[in-house]
Amino acid sequence: MIDLRSDTVTKPSDRMRAAMANAEVGDDVFGDDPTVNKLQDRAAQVFEKEDALWVPTGCMGNEIAVKVHTKPGQEIVTEDRGHILNYEVGAAAVISGVTIRAVKSADGSGHLNWDELRPVLKIDPPYYQSSTGLVCLENTHNFAGGSVMSAAACSEVCEKVREAGLPIHMDGARIFNAAVALNEPVADLTRHCDSVMVTLSKGLGAPAGSILIGTKDFIEEARIWRKRLGGGMRQVGILAAAGLIALEEGPKRLYEDHQNARRLADGLAEIPGISIDVKNVITNIVIFDISGTGKTSNEIVETLSSYGILCVGFGEQIRMVTHLDISTFDIETTVSEMRKVLT
Ligand SMILES: Cc1ncc(COP(=O)(O)O)c(C=O)c1O
Repeated sequence: MIDLRSDTVTKPSDRMRAAMANAEVGDDVFGDDPTVNKLQDRAAQVFEKEDALWVPTGCMGNEIAVKVHTKPGQEIVTEDRGHILNYEVGAAAVISGVTIRAVKSADGSGHLNWDELRPVLKIDPPYYQSSTGLVCLENTHNFAGGSVMSAAACSEVCEKVREAGLPIHMDGARIFNAAVALNEPVADLTRHCDSVMVTLSKGLGAPAGSILIGTKDFIEEARIWRKRLGGGMRQVGILAAAGLIALEEGPKRLYEDHQNARRLADGLAEIPGISIDVKNVITNIVIFDISGTGKTSNEIVETLSSYGILCVGFGEQIRMVTHLDISTFDIETTVSEMRKVLT
């Protein structure tokens, strides 16, 4: 199988499995797991923030951040295709009692600038309107095709949002992909964000786990919410041991995934009926339009699956994600099989 459905499908390496087997562990609900503590300290250091908290999933990290930053009845702002709005099954409404105001990025990048954000923020509204409680950013932006937001663009937006008195949460599930593509340190990409969620179990290769990062006060409150949501785990150093390797080693090879994504986009662009803006394939996510093929995305996804290639279709688009278990040979195979499917 060539599994291009997501970078979440990556399997832990032999080195990770050995580290997991030998991990020093303790009860993390008591704060006693040395491997978890090491991972949290290291993450806070890499992102140059005060503190960090291991969470089982990226969704839980995002949703804890929404909860800690907001009050029930408020609004949060996300980009129209943002993960928190579209792929967390309404958790912000269920857990935090907030509504979500979606804003389309005019340039299609998935990244909002101040001119787009300013008109929707409700800082001190009349009593019969909801106030804005939080602005959420996403870098890279998953459903905008892994697009990146530079440190300068992020600082500019954050500065204005903060001047308006609002906190900013960064869904940085793939922030290391952005850092590698932009050749900028991750700390610079999130410097002015109040909280950051980073996933270890996507392109970085850990089997599970994300990290929530922010101030000491934020993390103290986040720890309470993690427990309340059932995410306080015990000898979880077994997973943190893999997470440490993901954090240290994972980013070093992400450029290979980006090169493979570009190769894939170049190959697909030559197939009649497929429409893709190759120059916007900057990280590891390739989204293309199949409306010119005369087939539906479901038909294409199903036929590819029968050839041993897995990907995701939605509407008239298909998404393929490269990762550490995808080789250059897999990319060539995918392009040639796709050509067969469509001709
Ligand atoms: C941008 C983004 N944020 C958050 C998540 C959620 O991560 P998890 O699957 O670990 O809950 C994902 C997962 O694909 C994602 O792409």
